[in-house]
Amino acid sequence: MKQKPAVSIVGMGYVGLCTAATFASRGIQTIGIDIDQARVEQIRKGKAPLHEPQLDTMLKNAVKKKLLDATSEISVAADTETTFLAVGTPGQQDGSIDLSYIKNATEDLGSVLREKPGYHLIVVKSTVVPGTTNGVVKRFLEQSSRKTIGAGLGLCANPEFLKEGTAINDALHPDKIVIGSNDKKSADELTRLYRHFYGSKLPPVILTSPEAAELVKYASNAFLATKVSFINTIANIAQQIPGVDVGTIAEAIGLDPRIGGLFLKSGPGYGGSCFHKDLQALINYIQNRNYDPVLFRATEETNKQQANRVVGMAENLLGSLSSKRVAVLGLAFKKDTDDIREAASIRVINQLKKKGARVVAYDPMAIPNTKKTLSDQIDYAENAHSALKGADCAIIMTEWDQFRQLVPKDFQTHMTAPNIVDARRILDPKQFAQLNYLAIGTGSVKA
Ligand code: UGA
Repeated sequence: MKQKPAVSIVGMGYVGLCTAATFASRGIQTIGIDIDQARVEQIRKGKAPLHEPQLDTMLKNAVKKKLLDATSEISVAADTETTFLAVGTPGQQDGSIDLSYIKNATEDLGSVLREKPGYHLIVVKSTVVPGTTNGVVKRFLEQSSRKTIGAGLGLCANPEFLKEGTAINDALHPDKIVIGSNDKKSADELTRLYRHFYGSKLPPVILTSPEAAELVKYASNAFLATKVSFINTIANIAQQIPGVDVGTIAEAIGLDPRIGGLFLKSGPGYGGSCFHKDLQALINYIQNRNYDPVLFRATEETNKQQANRVVGMAENLLGSLSSKRVAVLGLAFKKDTDDIREAASIRVINQLKKKGARVVAYDPMAIPNTKKTLSDQIDYAENAHSALKGADCAIIMTEWDQFRQLVPKDFQTHMTAPNIVDARRILDPKQFAQLNYLAIGTGSVKA
């Protein structure tokens, strides 16, 4: 790279890579750092190592224009002005957050900044529990760099709110930027970078303490997860009342601006790499401080039970599931991704297996990732129709557009009997009224 990069980003996962690509797309010299050499090589070729709409094109352009490079050498961070930490913070067995990647990255970063003559800003983008930036991150950085935060080094907490599947758009048009710091210079420097990035479209910037910035992220995910568990609870109630549909209830309550209509789709329960992990981390964090967040435990428990509800609906249609062939349509935790982390489909499949069912699954994108987890415990189909062949029951687990196109004939032609559990409510109940069709949240005598 000819010009000096302005920004380095440690951790080329979803958040790091999408942030890097969008920074570079705005003309900011960016270098991505990751310990995974294969990932680095792929990025250098302008190829995204993960599936995210628009990312490939953006990466290709940025690499071609030499605005983005990648390396596994963290020493290059010292040549930049700002380093974002976007490494993973997985959950541990007891729910607590695993900060080992954060610790390693800050220690390595601190050492390479030791000899740097000028100021360097470090920004924690990873999701970390309150006190992490000002605690371990600060301590490790100061120890290994032998510098002081507030003097040679700047430090901010700056959580990320992007969603898989719309990550690029979210990064380009965030509803807010949250910056937590203990010194004005750090906050000013990061605000300046974002002002450069967004120009006149700079979203509201919330300036606060690192601890508050860290908690904003958890509060956001806890609220969203709770909203999903809330509407799933209402769905389970609605399902007991013939003539009532949760869609109408969600539409009506969503018109109240205090409630809001988004994130009120009932389904098989939330999945993805963040909600469960972050709720568990928050619960664990605060229980260790002698407060029991009953609400969030209920959010999680409701979510877990929702998978049982889906399996229960299949039992309502079939009776015993033993030796029954069940077609699971959709494995990804939501549409347009190949990600199956914490996906409700896996919880449902495990339950089905436990009850003796034979499972055949189809997903337009997530089969390779599912094979890594479930290997040959289930069969895999090449398309929805072949999954339905000879099946006693079909369960729609992901709201893929192609499943919306399915018509009654598709089920009638291929299945032994057209028993359908629509866990995403994507089919038209009227069209399917003549079949054995159950949708989550739709009151029916069959439910
Ligand atoms: C979530 C948050 O939405 C992001 O703001 C956050 O930055 C991200 O986690 C993170 O912490 O990194 P994401 O995991 O990509 O983003 O997925 P969402 O679109 O939020 O969906 C999560 C789950 O909730 C999915 O399984 C989805 O199907 C389910 N969901 C969502 C519903 O069941 N109903 C809804 O109305 C909305």
